[in-house]
Amino acid sequence: MIADGNDQFSLARRMRRMRGSPARRALRRETELTASHFVQPIFVTEDASAAGAIDSMPGVSRLALADVATIAARLRGCGVRSVLLFGIPAAKDSCGHSAGDEDGIVPRAVREVRRGADDMVVITDLCLCAYTDHGHCAPIANGRVLNDESFEMLGRAALAHAAAGADLVAPSGMMDGAVRAVRRSLDANGFADTGILSYAVKYASAFYGPFRDAARSAPSFGDRRSHQMDPANAAEAIEEARLDLDEGADVLMVKPALAYLDVIRRLRERYEGVPIAAYQVSGEYASLVAASERGWLDLQSVALETLTAMRRAGADILITYFAEQAAHWLRESADATAEASR
Ligand code: PBG
Repeated sequence: MIADGNDQFSLARRMRRMRGSPARRALRRETELTASHFVQPIFVTEDASAAGAIDSMPGVSRLALADVATIAARLRGCGVRSVLLFGIPAAKDSCGHSAGDEDGIVPRAVREVRRGADDMVVITDLCLCAYTDHGHCAPIANGRVLNDESFEMLGRAALAHAAAGADLVAPSGMMDGAVRAVRRSLDANGFADTGILSYAVKYASAFYGPFRDAARSAPSFGDRRSHQMDPANAAEAIEEARLDLDEGADVLMVKPALAYLDVIRRLRERYEGVPIAAYQVSGEYASLVAASERGWLDLQSVALETLTAMRRAGADILITYFAEQAAHWLRESADATAEASR
């Protein structure tokens, strides 16, 4: 008997039809992950004796200046085309003076990256917390963060980074008006082409713990809740982003990433055409690595899954400690696919 097609098994739509083979799945895939979207954060220490592994971030190190060019060349070789530099200065004081030093740790690291890979997109973190002896992102008086008093130092640090050849500077302290202060300083000194990646939406998150070990930037008292955002808020993020755009931000960042995919999506829809970066922070990295070390998660699968989710949410740029490793994984799976199709 020939089936009339009217039995209960004739479904007009069967989603599995497009999942039946690797090639069908590849055809309907909506989000691609490629190394060209990755930014590798790099910690560079002025005091070479402080270089070495970071306990709470297995696989990540504090680099001595002398190693930066080699690492940059290695990253470029595996397809990672951008780095975010964090400097760990030898000297700290109450105002964070060493941040503005033209020959400070970050400007020197920028030149080293260029020496290793001259077409690298070099982004430099612009916060004072690693340069102040109290570990806060601005000068302090009577236990309070002095917002506007940080502008002069941020402006000077931005110039030092730009003069060394940074492509983008990244004010990360969540001080009101910082983007404007940095933009003005750059423009007034002939650096109109240096961009600003703003940590526009940075939450007061518990996921930064390992970073503060790495960069030696933990606040010696208090916390950062008077300037970083409340994790309970998302509409406020739209206003933060709008202000930074008005002040001259070229790229907007959301940080952390995985717990804030809704915020990435909201900014994506609201500010179509503006590049959005997601920062998968130290605690996100450390938790996946730790679980995989216990054999509870497969690192490659979960890392690539989280990065894909950030792209799917709307991020153009992924700042991640997995950048180099993920670039290798992607290359290996591309090689395997090419092999299979031969
Ligand atoms: C500096 C800064 C922090 C991070 C990036 N820039 C720490 C903080 O705000 O305390 C965190 C990055 C990470 O956790 O990977 N203000």
